[in-house]
Amino acid sequence: MEIRPLEPGELDATRDLRTRAFGPCSQEEWERALRFNRAAVEAGRQFAVFDGGRVVASGRLHDMTQWWHGRAVPMAGVSAVAVAPEERGRGLGRMLMAHLLERCAAFGHPLSMLYPATTRLYRSLGWEHAGAQHEIDIPAEALRGIAAERVPVRRAGTADAAEVAAVIRRVHEGAGDCGPIGWADANWRVLLADENDFSYLADDGFLTFRWADGNAALEVARLVAASERTLRALWAIVGSGSSTAPTVHACVGPMDAALWLPAEREVDHVRRVQWMLRVVDAPAAIEARGYPAGVGVEVPLLIDDPQRPSNSGHWLLSVADGRGRLERSAPHPDAVRLGPRGLAALYAGVPVATLRRSGLLQGGDAGALTAPFAATPFSLDHF
Ligand SMILES: CC(C)(COP(=O)(O)OP(=O)(O)OC[C@H]1O[C@@H](n2cnc3c(N)ncnc32)[C@H](O)[C@@H]1OP(=O)(O)O)[C@@H](O)C(=O)NCCC(=O)NCCS
Repeated sequence: MEIRPLEPGELDATRDLRTRAFGPCSQEEWERALRFNRAAVEAGRQFAVFDGGRVVASGRLHDMTQWWHGRAVPMAGVSAVAVAPEERGRGLGRMLMAHLLERCAAFGHPLSMLYPATTRLYRSLGWEHAGAQHEIDIPAEALRGIAAERVPVRRAGTADAAEVAAVIRRVHEGAGDCGPIGWADANWRVLLADENDFSYLADDGFLTFRWADGNAALEVARLVAASERTLRALWAIVGSGSSTAPTVHACVGPMDAALWLPAEREVDHVRRVQWMLRVVDAPAAIEARGYPAGVGVEVPLLIDDPQRPSNSGHWLLSVADGRGRLERSAPHPDAVRLGPRGLAALYAGVPVATLRRSGLLQGGDAGALTAPFAATPFSLDHF
């Protein structure tokens, strides 16, 4: 068996595998996927395992960023992992993922994120549950008329890709968000070209929504805004559809300001789709992340990362003035001990008490680690 990146013209070779793993897709959906994934393929980020001429496994690494406390960290988004049904259960999936992990490092991504269809495979290689994509139902009528003033908005199309990406970046930076991902402009061009998505740009906000549930509801895929006036104005656009769409399904963070806007809010019906994180390069990941101002800690760590030995060993973690560093140190008898899964969960803000009681962290005096990493990570995208 041979594993290698696919050439741009070879992507059709994965269609049969995709169908066997995830179900059929129409020609239209397939062509859209080709357009969306073109940048990844051209960059040698779509991998396939060949047995003779047959593709028996594949996976992709999107070139993304992920905001952590408002700083964009380069991140590899793993997607479309699949093994042919007749080859499953013999270690091929694990071999592919081990290869992708090495590629993440070679591409220079300190972090990797994925949506798991099954957890064991990814945990065995150091990914751990870190955050979720949350979808909540809001009565459209509660959103209608919540705008206090009119804010200039315009329809956004493919030509606005760079501006959309920039507005989203400013919003997540300003809010100090943890978890949302940033797409490259090339991906935005494809996303903005979809005629069934209605996208609107304001100076400091962006909205994409579409019809859902057989045109009985609206679905907000993304609504971000830096100011209250824009937030209200964009949600009011969605709420204006209440006469034909009584319910709005909205992908929002659990602390999204939008949840504090409606006058009535008693019971939230939330669907959570979990995602997992892998710290690929520990010192680079610690340095690239943002941290709350005014939190200062120095904690000795002992990391044991069999798949990424360059992360293993004794370190001194220090956080001060909103910046973090991980430096090699002499062995410390009271070092906090972590594997890659514990490190990923800590990075994502899982409290130390939870890490200890779930066996993801041992030893040392780790209490001080909760404050610098405190986060409620979310995502507004599924890939
Ligand atoms: C998930 C998938 C990629 C695994 O491939 P595979 O070659 O069978 O995996 P491996 O043989 O290397 O198994 C690796 C580990 O995953 C576990 N695993 C594999 N399939 C699993 C499943 N369906 N449910 C739970 N665990 C599973 C194995 O038990 C093994 O863990 P273990 O060593 O602790 O026993 C494959 O079943 C597949 O393509 N499924 C359909 C598409 C899919 O779900 N893709 C993942 C999207 S995130």
